[in-house]
Amino acid sequence: MNIIRVPGYEQMSRKAAECILSVLNQAGSPVLGLATGSTPKGLYAELILDHQKNGTSYKQVTTINLDEYIGLPVSDPNSYHSFMEQHLFCHLDVLPSNTHLPNGETADVKKECDRYEALIDQHPIDIQVLGIGQNGHIGFNEPGTPFGRTTHITALTSSTRQANARFFPSIEDVPKQAITMGIASIMKSRNILLLASGFKKAEAIKRLFSGEISEAFPASVLHHHPHVTILADDEALSSAT
Ligand code: GLP
Repeated sequence: MNIIRVPGYEQMSRKAAECILSVLNQAGSPVLGLATGSTPKGLYAELILDHQKNGTSYKQVTTINLDEYIGLPVSDPNSYHSFMEQHLFCHLDVLPSNTHLPNGETADVKKECDRYEALIDQHPIDIQVLGIGQNGHIGFNEPGTPFGRTTHITALTSSTRQANARFFPSIEDVPKQAITMGIASIMKSRNILLLASGFKKAEAIKRLFSGEISEAFPASVLHHHPHVTILADDEALSSAT
């Protein structure tokens, strides 16, 4: 694991953008694996700024997101579709047909999982951006998820629903299920960039660095991946050192 320590959120976001831009400059038709949550918002703002200032084009770029809630309409302001549109896609020249998220409002969710996994295989991800849940989840792979799982339906733990409740009118409104890339799907990515910022992530980062590799702590699977960069700020690293 390559660990990059930065003082704070702004520096983390800028450095993450540099990592993404270097992949965009190398690959002819790059495939970006993208994440939602508060953590990558600064990264997306940096990519937008670069697009506006330097004209970096996304016309050849394909994006594949980690996950989506089940039961929220795509147009719901809290859907991950809406999040990506608002925080990234509508500001870039990426082609809407090249942006992909699981469809959580389809009638046949199981079939959607198979379609999504096939999509990942057709478009191998050059770099996958990850946040980390306080319980070590990546995407929506909650503790106990077998490392071999591909895209699947998952029940959100109450701690994850609590953590995400800040975006919803009340906890009852937070969906109970999601479609997520599995751990095996994430591990297919050529490179992985995990971002962590703030004291809230300090315990998870400490556990990630403890060396334990266990399905009880999903992010620990990353020790098995050959090209992982952990980009974390002082607060996120405060318990690890
Ligand atoms: C959600 C997402 C994850 C994300 C996590 C942490 O559960 N499914 O992909 O990493 O939240 O979010 P945040 O960055 O807001 O702390």
